[in-house]
Amino acid sequence: MKIGVLCSGGDAPGMNPCIRAIVRAAGVYDDTIVGIRHGYQGLLDEDFFMKQLSPELSVRMVSGLTSKGGTVLNSSRCPAFMTEEGIHKAVETLKKHQMDALITIGGNGTLSGARNLANYWDGQIIGIPGTIDNDLLGTDYTIGFATAVQTAVEAIDKLRDTAGSHDMMFIVEVMGRHCGDLALQTAIAGGCEIVAVPEIPTSVEGIVTELHRFKKLGKKSMIMVVAEGDDIGGAYSMLNSLKEAGSPYEMRVVVLGHVQRGGSPAPSDRILATKLGCFAVKSLHQGETGKMVGEIAGKLVLSPLDEVIVDHRQITPEMMELLHVVAS
Ligand code: F6P
Repeated sequence: MKIGVLCSGGDAPGMNPCIRAIVRAAGVYDDTIVGIRHGYQGLLDEDFFMKQLSPELSVRMVSGLTSKGGTVLNSSRCPAFMTEEGIHKAVETLKKHQMDALITIGGNGTLSGARNLANYWDGQIIGIPGTIDNDLLGTDYTIGFATAVQTAVEAIDKLRDTAGSHDMMFIVEVMGRHCGDLALQTAIAGGCEIVAVPEIPTSVEGIVTELHRFKKLGKKSMIMVVAEGDDIGGAYSMLNSLKEAGSPYEMRVVVLGHVQRGGSPAPSDRILATKLGCFAVKSLHQGETGKMVGEIAGKLVLSPLDEVIVDHRQITPEMMELLHVVAS
């Protein structure tokens, strides 16, 4: 079988170990793997990962990828692929190079692209969830999430030191446009007091009331985590709104931004990436197509792409409750 592999959308730590797992699993079946560079754009440009003029990824070429952040295949967002013309060009490339199957690693946009492609191409397509946002249905965790939480928590631990020294409050913005899981799990692991997430409308007055309560309880410094997709509009808007509404704390903003997408993948991301990469290849050999691999409650599962792209995963009220209990 000749299988194309690409990473698309925002990169996530764990994409490299996933590529390694795909190539190594493909070796068991004697498959040929072609690395497509820069996501769907690479299908439009026939841009393949080459070594010694060969576009094939051999098992030795992926050595050492377990610990590497980013993606050796590069990634991109590709608006041209969203057009009919773009999809036709991609299909042309896949046919010209006699690919039997395609594995796409990425988030919601990547999986939507894969689903669209399936309407025009009769090769097999399997998606792998790779995004720091953990906002996908069909899996408990996406590749990259655990590392992003670790990165954000490390930053918060440092901010806690200076917040404590200065009796100050930090408003820390983390990524997450549609799902507050990165913000919430970071807040719980970082021992933060308040979190604002896209799933729940934010009440500035409610937060200020909480801040006064915390002040009365004797809390001298505070850390609030804000998901970038929160309805107030991110950490800077939050700072201004809280100031206007009478926050009793002196406040500073830290936007963690793309730092969260980098770094060596955490062991749990490497393991998840390895499981899902191998499962994707196995699934192709079992004749599966139009599906995303995932892990739910410890079991490897396949979900139709149609079903995973209709919505975003949401945080659970239980996790939110957990934060409230321990923050006070
Ligand atoms: O989808 C992953 C992600 O990191 C989101 O958390 C964030 O909103 C977005 O990508 C940022 O993308 P870009 O780098 O294209 O601005």
